[in-house]
Amino acid sequence: MLMQPGIRTLPGLLAALRKARTRSAYERVLRSAEVPAEELAGQATWNNRHYTRNCLLRTADMELMLICFEPGQGTSIHDYGAEEGWVRPIRGELAEERYRLDEDGMLVCTEERRLTVDDVSHLAKGASLHRFTNPLPMRSMSLNIYARPLRSWNVYDSRSGNGRLRPVPPVSKR
Ligand SMILES: [Fe+2]
Repeated sequence: MLMQPGIRTLPGLLAALRKARTRSAYERVLRSAEVPAEELAGQATWNNRHYTRNCLLRTADMELMLICFEPGQGTSIHDYGAEEGWVRPIRGELAEERYRLDEDGMLVCTEERRLTVDDVSHLAKGASLHRFTNPLPMRSMSLNIYARPLRSWNVYDSRSGNGRLRPVPPVSKR
């Protein structure tokens, strides 16, 4: 599949993702799209108590979410089990922490980095333990693709390392 230069609108992005047939094609579309944050402002919701998940597209094979973080908001430490994901900030920044479980079942942070606008982080099958936090005093938004759509994920207690299968947080209503 060719690169997708010039995708600047939400309908264009959704059409390209509907046409994409493979996970590598989803990733290429997400990396190469040039959709400005303002184009997605109408899809965003904001909540003072927690970040929001806004579904832009869901098929049998994948979903595209717009994730909206107020300053300081972040996710739990979680992973996607046998599913995978890609995360691209489109406004602001995200602090990404990656983890693994050591031989005693305790969480070990293996990497910390800042994702800035247009970086893409890949959360691979079976190796996706992570947390995202908005570190800036301004709102941030990211486009996230999950393949397949997530119904549940494993949420980990940061002190004990115990993981529990939990339903994913509900999508927000506009
Ligand atoms: Fe995540």
